[in-house]
Amino acid sequence: MALALAQDILGPGLQRIQREIDAAFDALLPVPADPRARLVEAMRHAVIGGGKRVRPLLLVTVAEMYGAARSMAIRAACAVEAIHAYSLVHDDLPCMDDDALRHGKPTVHVAFGEAIAVLAGDSLHALAFELVADPGLCSDPFVRAELTHCLAMASGHRGMAGGQMMDLAAQGAQFDLHAVTRLQQLKTGALLGAAVEMGAILGRVPEEGRGPLRLYARDIGVAFQIADDLLDHDGDQSLAGKALRKDAAAGKATFVSLMGPDKAREQARALSKQAVGHLAHYGAEADLLRALARFVVERDR
Ligand code: IPE
Ligand code: IPE
Ligand code: MG
Ligand code: MG
Ligand code: MG
Repeated sequence: MALALAQDILGPGLQRIQREIDAAFDALLPVPADPRARLVEAMRHAVIGGGKRVRPLLLVTVAEMYGAARSMAIRAACAVEAIHAYSLVHDDLPCMDDDALRHGKPTVHVAFGEAIAVLAGDSLHALAFELVADPGLCSDPFVRAELTHCLAMASGHRGMAGGQMMDLAAQGAQFDLHAVTRLQQLKTGALLGAAVEMGAILGRVPEEGRGPLRLYARDIGVAFQIADDLLDHDGDQSLAGKALRKDAAAGKATFVSLMGPDKAREQARALSKQAVGHLAHYGAEADLLRALARFVVERDR
């Protein structure tokens, strides 16, 4: 698919999902008139008005490909995005990446203090599971259980948090390409994979029918993090809305540090192409997924 066509499809899709996710979190997080107000304000700071919403768009697109109701998919998408937002709040803390800017705004710990940032992360994590376990999401308890299991597996030591641990270990260490790929699959790929898988769960796709979607998600997961590392290397901070040029200074092993930026970009593009290849058996209903595969590597934010 040509880049212009991909952008025609993707732009409106991203704008729509950004509005829907903002509105859903706004409704989910009224500020209480008691001492918890600052906590909820910090949660709102983290999840409203920022972020590309790539994971929600993946989830909703796959769910709709299989006829699931968009309103149901949006609630599940909020769960994935709540985990993602919590991971960023904690990732930005002084004890981790020590960043002051996120989504073009001060990070949560800068705006609210470290203690509240930790609690806001904790509470977003809990909110995610509240959402997927809620009978209001879907009346079928098997679907809710499968969503819950999938999101839990992708979030903890087998997924995102485990990848963050490997990322800590990758600072100043001798990580080879194999180890960095594994790190990225966990740190970033796991949650992107969960978004696709949860869309398939809502669409009642049986396990044996999910193979191509899983392969697609695996490839864009690694490509997405290579693109993030390339942005860190040569992106524009005012577009990215976060501090860049940090990975090299921290001595982090990334595809960019191991292969150089040109080869890393080539690798990301090859993975994106390969991801699209896995969708060969789908028709126009998967065009948004194809456009997303393109977007994740060519993005400037
Ligand atoms: C940033 O993720 C952190 C990674 C996992 C690479 P995104 O680039 O999806 O962040 P936002 O939510 O769009 O800001
Ligand atoms: C963070 O990776 C991935 C998470 C699981 C939060 P990075 O540390 O590279 O993400 P940015 O660059 O701060 O967004
Ligand atoms: Mg980090
Ligand atoms: Mg970071
Ligand atoms: Mg980064």
